[in-house]
Amino acid sequence: MRGCYTLCSRFGRVPSIQNCRRRLSLAPLSNHSSTLSQPDPFALVASELSRIRTDLVHLLGSAHPGLDEIASYYFLRPSKQLRPLIILLFSQATNGLGRDWPLKKWASEQARPGGRAENLDEPLSRADVLNDWNPNLKEKTSFYDPLLSLSLPQTPTKLPQPPLSAFDSSERTLISPAFVLPTQMRLAQIVEMVHAASLLHDDVIDESPLRRGSLSAPEAFGNKFAVLGGNFILGRASAALARLGDPEVTQLIASVIANLVEGEILQMQDVESPDGQAVPSSQVAKNAWTLYLQKTYMKTASLMAKGARSAVVLGGCADGEVYKEIAYAYGRNIGIAFQLVDDVLDYEAVEDTLGKPGGADLQLGLATGPALYAWEEHPEMGPLIERKFSQAGDVELARSLVKKSAGVERTRALAVAYATQAREVLQSLPEGEARAALEALTDRVIKRKS
Ligand code: FPP
Ligand code: MG
Repeated sequence: MRGCYTLCSRFGRVPSIQNCRRRLSLAPLSNHSSTLSQPDPFALVASELSRIRTDLVHLLGSAHPGLDEIASYYFLRPSKQLRPLIILLFSQATNGLGRDWPLKKWASEQARPGGRAENLDEPLSRADVLNDWNPNLKEKTSFYDPLLSLSLPQTPTKLPQPPLSAFDSSERTLISPAFVLPTQMRLAQIVEMVHAASLLHDDVIDESPLRRGSLSAPEAFGNKFAVLGGNFILGRASAALARLGDPEVTQLIASVIANLVEGEILQMQDVESPDGQAVPSSQVAKNAWTLYLQKTYMKTASLMAKGARSAVVLGGCADGEVYKEIAYAYGRNIGIAFQLVDDVLDYEAVEDTLGKPGGADLQLGLATGPALYAWEEHPEMGPLIERKFSQAGDVELARSLVKKSAGVERTRALAVAYATQAREVLQSLPEGEARAALEALTDRVIKRKS
């Protein structure tokens, strides 16, 4: 348990951002960059990932022509599937270890909420009360009927009770061969749905013409339908979340949705003292870093951190067990590393590799890692950041200042430091293929080109 407290205090809480930057030593990655013998993290769960994508489109069917087309639009284009991948690998890396694993394993074989895969589509309220028609789930959903007659309440079905063996308290070990519970598969879909919903909204806010190498949803369907499509996905994801039957997981994922919105709002915040009073510029720069790393957690890392934690909760990790903390710390660190690399690629990569326009951040008025570091070397960056690169020539000047500085390299180094932390927390898990894949993923995130 000591390990747990160490982990909690090092990674579990949201640390002060300045302390966080200080604590992450930017020393070169020792063995981190050697990929020779590293497994391909995607290969280990390739069949699950492909099933996740196909099956989740079934959840999005609607009574309204066109709505399911918009809702499934981003799922039909190739995506990295990084978030589902983290969930699947954490499930495999921890299933069997948690105190309540036998109970979760038993439940996964029962016809009940939170049980077998087919039961995860079973409505918790009567289908004709929900009126949430999905043509892909004809037996489980119902179309709006203008006539309502009072129905007699149904006698609740008696749920099977767990046998005593489900409370077995003998020492836990990783299960072999590794597998993923139906609830964890569904969680991976829910997390991908929340992510896609946020992208639909993001492409409206950023007025982005492209996503994943095709027209963005707002470009293809217009802003109104893109926003409504995103909301529809969130509705379906929330219902699926409820059907997992775990209040802690519901709270974790619901709080991610709030974080995503907060992150987007923080990103729009001006870089200046909150009350508009003059403050020394070093303080302004410090505030800008605080804001930047905080919004990076909110808009990107929160979903990976709480998604991974939720996977471990669904696998039966109980309060006081260390696995939840490892999952959260891993997701948080790899999530921040991922976004820092995204911010670097916005300066380095071209549209062909990214599948979306490069150089968008400065155009949108956003000062990310490279610009904030450049500011330390070139004070003339300060006024540009404060006015969000809004005057003619600001974007070009900012770009040249970043180029003259070590901003891109330093942001990459910060990403590497976060990825190293992600890798380190895994050392408290038992060795195995899934742990090795999670380790390899930290390298992939740093080396990605798109
Ligand atoms: C992509 O970032 C955007 C996000 C990671 C989150 C966006 C969140 C919202 C718009 C809030 C609304 C959320 C919901 C769930 C309704 P980016 O713009 O830096 O990356 P990009 O270049 O891929 O667009
Ligand atoms: Mg965007």
